Parts: sequence; C-alpha cells; structure tokens
Amino acid sequence: MPEIVTLPGLIDVHTHLRVPGGEHKEDFRTGTAAALAGGITMILGMPNTTPPLSTPEVLQQTAVIAQQEALCDVGLFAGASPEQTAHLPHLASHAVALKIYLNDTFGPLRVEDVPTLRACFQTWPHEKLIAMHAEKQSVAVGIGLAAAYDRPVHFCHISRREEIELIADAKMRGLPVTCEVTPHHLFMDERDRERLGILADMRPVLGTPDDVAALWAHLNDTVDCIATDHAPHTLAEKQSATPPPGVAGLETSLVLMLTAVAQNRLTLNRLIELMHTNPRRIFHLPEQPETRVEVAMAPAVIRQETMKSRCGWTPFHGREVSAQVKRVILRGQVVYADGRVLAQPGSGMILPSLY
Ligand code: DOR
Ligand code: ZN
Ligand code: ZN
Repeated sequence: MPEIVTLPGLIDVHTHLRVPGGEHKEDFRTGTAAALAGGITMILGMPNTTPPLSTPEVLQQTAVIAQQEALCDVGLFAGASPEQTAHLPHLASHAVALKIYLNDTFGPLRVEDVPTLRACFQTWPHEKLIAMHAEKQSVAVGIGLAAAYDRPVHFCHISRREEIELIADAKMRGLPVTCEVTPHHLFMDERDRERLGILADMRPVLGTPDDVAALWAHLNDTVDCIATDHAPHTLAEKQSATPPPGVAGLETSLVLMLTAVAQNRLTLNRLIELMHTNPRRIFHLPEQPETRVEVAMAPAVIRQETMKSRCGWTPFHGREVSAQVKRVILRGQVVYADGRVLAQPGSGMILPSLY
C-alpha cells in the first residue's frame, strides 16, 4: 500500500478563470473542478477577463456567476486600469486584492503611468493586498512603491535570478514584499520551450537553467508561495497565427511539488507553508474548517486526457510524478475522490465573505 499523506486544503493565489468573455477556455465550473482534482480548495481569480474586472458592475456580476457555479472557494482580484481609478474604493468591497500589470501579457490591462500607480497606492484600502505582474526592472518599481507608501506588495510569478535576488535584498532591508513562484518556472526551462514550442510559451517566459537554479536556491527563504498562474487557452488558439501566452497549472502543481518532496528537494512542512499557510496569511484568507487533501505517494504519469480544465492540454503531459491526489474534503464533504469531482455547483464560497 502506498503511503497516504494528509494535507490542509491548498490555496492557489493566481488562477485565470476566464469569466467573463473567455468561457470557451475555462469557466467557474471547469476551473474549480480542475482545482479540486489538483488538491486545491481555494483559488484567487485574476482580473484580465473580457471585459476586465475593473468596474464594480463587472466585478459584482462575475462574483454572482461564481457563487452559482463554483465547486471550491473563490476570491477575485480587481484589475487596475488608468481609466478606472475613480472606481478603486468601490471595487475593493468585492475583491480580495488589487492586481497591477506592469508588463505586457495576455489581455489589455496595463499600468504604465505614475499617476495611476499613485492612485492605486493611495486609495486601495490598506488592509487589502496589492499584487503585481512585474518583470525585470519593474520589480524595482514595485519595491520602491512598497517602500514609499509603506504597504505590502506581492510579486506574481517571479522567474529570474535577478528578480529573486532583488526581492531577497528588499526583504533583508525589512521592506514589506512577498512573492510567488510557479511550478512551470521550477520544473521547466528555456530548453523545454525549444522542445515543446508554443505550448511552453507564457509570461514570464521560461528561464535559463541558472534562473531555475536561483529559484530553487531561494525556495526555503525568499519565496513565500507556490502559485500556478493557471492560464488556460485552447489548443487551437495556441496553434493559431497569434498564440496567446499561458499554460494550465491547477492539476499539476501539487503533484509536481510533492515529487520534489519525494526527491528531498524540499520538506513536506515547507510545501504546506508555500501552498497553504503563507498564501492564507499574505492575502488574509479565511480558514476552511474540516478541509483536507489526501494524496498517495505513488508513481503516476501526468495525462492530459483526464484533465478537468476545459483547455484539455498541459506541457507536463507524459511527465512522471511521485504522487496522486486521492480525495479532497471541503467543509466536511467529499468533493473529489479517485478521479471524480463530487461537489455541487454553488457549494464553493465566494470571498470576501463572513465565514
Ligand atoms: O502567460 C500568461 N498568461 N501570463 C500572464 O500573465 C497572463 C496569462 C493569461 O491570462 O493567459
Ligand atoms: Zn502575470
Ligand atoms: Zn497570470
């Protein structure tokens, strides 16, 4: 019999759910099913939808759909946009955090001007986090803002040696910054981009082997969270003339990280900090009572045929891992068992809520 390991409900603070406007890629039902299949019971949805989650109307309507459809707990990010800064205080009541895109990626949300950055840091409520898509020297911009306004900044999907070392320096000075790293930036590098072509294209792009080594070297101190950046696009879109960046990640994140545990690259306790304790503390997320994930430490192969995500493909197809998610229990209910999602649509809670 394989060893069974019990974990708390894991939290993914970086998921793209594609509602509204991209439901052919993913919706709340398929995205939250993928989360449960991956051992994740709470996800934070990104705002780069069509239209984006940058007005109170769109954010509120999306939260209503999430409430009807979600199979696990869901919080939504509000998206910063230069045209909508007056809305920031109203957006906050429906959002868990604010996302600012400083660099080019999928969708139109972008902030490139100082007045918008000042408005974000001055008017977004202090008790809610500001998260950033920041690459290369944009990380320095984010660190400067954290220092200038003396408020926490969370850096999404840090992928390069220069970025993680800059964040380590900022932390050493006591600045209130945190960061996440994705499994694809830990388990793939630019050589996989050559092997897999556009299926291994995302923002930030895959790093050099030296970047990857730096992320692993900082996993026990500078890195705060593992986050998936689950960014589903259909195979047809990826193979089109204008392929969008992004790869799915909800169903592969935990089993990949547990494989690293089996290889003694990190401890199980550290995995729990990175995928549960720290995400909850940094984003002020509620506890999920009577919630746990049971995994079997047994060899398995990642197969895209069994994926719950609507996109139906993963760059990790065929990869051997050392763990399988067996059962997920959310608030006392078995919501996933042996490959089957058992949760009812609407049984997930939408944050912020009075738990
Ligand atoms: O590769 C990416 N895809 N990076 C992002 O920042 C956005 C995401 C998406 O929404 O597809
Ligand atoms: Zn991003
Ligand atoms: Zn993202």
